[in-house]
Amino acid sequence: SELKLWGGRFTGATDPLMDLYNASLPYDKKMYAADLEGTKVYTEGLEKLGLLTKHELSEIHRGLAEIKEEWSNDEFVAKPGDEDIHTANERRLGEIIGRQIAGKVHTGRSRNDQVATDMRIYTRTELQKLAAILKTFIEVIVKRAKNEIDFLMPGYTHLQRAQPIRWSHWLSMYATYFTEDYKRLLQVIERTNVSPLGAGALAGHPYGIDREYLAENLGFNGVIGNSLAAVSDRDFVVESMFWSSLFMNHISRFSEDLIIYSTGEFGFIQLADAYSTGSSLMPQKKNPDSLELLRGKSGRVFGSLAGFMMSLKSIPSTYNKDMQEDKEPLFDSLVTVEHSILIATGVISTLKANSAKMAAALSMDMLATDLADYLVRKGVPFRETHHISGECVRAAEENKLSGIDQLSLSQFQTIDERFEKDVFETFDFEKSVERRTATGGTAKSAVLKQLDNLLSQLS
Ligand code: ARG
Repeated sequence: SELKLWGGRFTGATDPLMDLYNASLPYDKKMYAADLEGTKVYTEGLEKLGLLTKHELSEIHRGLAEIKEEWSNDEFVAKPGDEDIHTANERRLGEIIGRQIAGKVHTGRSRNDQVATDMRIYTRTELQKLAAILKTFIEVIVKRAKNEIDFLMPGYTHLQRAQPIRWSHWLSMYATYFTEDYKRLLQVIERTNVSPLGAGALAGHPYGIDREYLAENLGFNGVIGNSLAAVSDRDFVVESMFWSSLFMNHISRFSEDLIIYSTGEFGFIQLADAYSTGSSLMPQKKNPDSLELLRGKSGRVFGSLAGFMMSLKSIPSTYNKDMQEDKEPLFDSLVTVEHSILIATGVISTLKANSAKMAAALSMDMLATDLADYLVRKGVPFRETHHISGECVRAAEENKLSGIDQLSLSQFQTIDERFEKDVFETFDFEKSVERRTATGGTAKSAVLKQLDNLLSQLS
């Protein structure tokens, strides 16, 4: 136990299972670069205080650079007693530059402010990567929507055919969700990117370190204004996982729609082979596994959020080891979301949209509302026209006609004398969507405006 950095007051050996139970190195080594960068800047702060000489600082920086090389070449050798990434890096620094100098880097610092710093650096970097690929995903959806602006399909409520819409309008709906996700992500990054470094274990820095200097040189936007909050706050972890959960919720609904649209019964889309798999038994099968995994993994990401919220809720102030449980769920969520965005981008850029099948799924009863609107334009109150249009639907059914458009003018006029010859112009899907030019509607001009508006929000 003399290997342990905090071993001074401990005499007995730890239960070997306790060592394993306690160790976070297997997963927090992901943060090695953040940890080394934090130490690099922190020791600059110590040198400014006269707590390190210039020579000592340059030795430390030389050692840190060498450790970084080892990690990035997969050559770092962990030793028993390397409890986490912080202790592992410090132990190795001592081996490279000597314990005399390495023993000074932790002056005034605690693993409590260190781990909070590392986590924030790591998280903001990963979230920035997500923002970049999310932007591409949205751009791909918008491009597809512009290319296929003329495809009409049924819009649904209750999964029942409701009114005709453009396929691009459907795409634009998800692009709208994802654009909100993008903007929300930038806000989460903003709140994550504040510095806990220099808060010490909890009470603050005993040598008056320049926390603003540390923050600025680590790329933070500012410092956390209370040392207790600095070491105990994991809201950025929760927010990152909430963001991930909400995003995956959108991805899941998007996938569910596409799974339905890819069935034989719908046939609106066909997934590319690259994102489908076959059945080991049924030769004819082509399964939308990519979409099912996107839908399924949303549950896993939400589980991570819920699990960590449980861990966090009753922790007394300030640092407690429970907080080490922030890492695995966060890291898992970030990787899952990253892969999900990339897969979803692949799916949407390679699927085939079948406009003929979409058009074939449109039925005349979907224009019953338009028929009601026809009489509204002739001055009849909507509540009345709604009823009249319903009677037309029933008359068509009773006469075993294929749709309301097959009623004769005299049949229309028997139901309501205000129907005129121009009623037949109602029965045109294209005209129906083109009437919806108001902002946010499914007319071509309105959809194109939405798409451009979305692009302009992607800074
Ligand atoms: N591995 C620990 C974590 O992830 C580092 C902080 C340990 N600090 C402490 N006082 N035990 O939370």
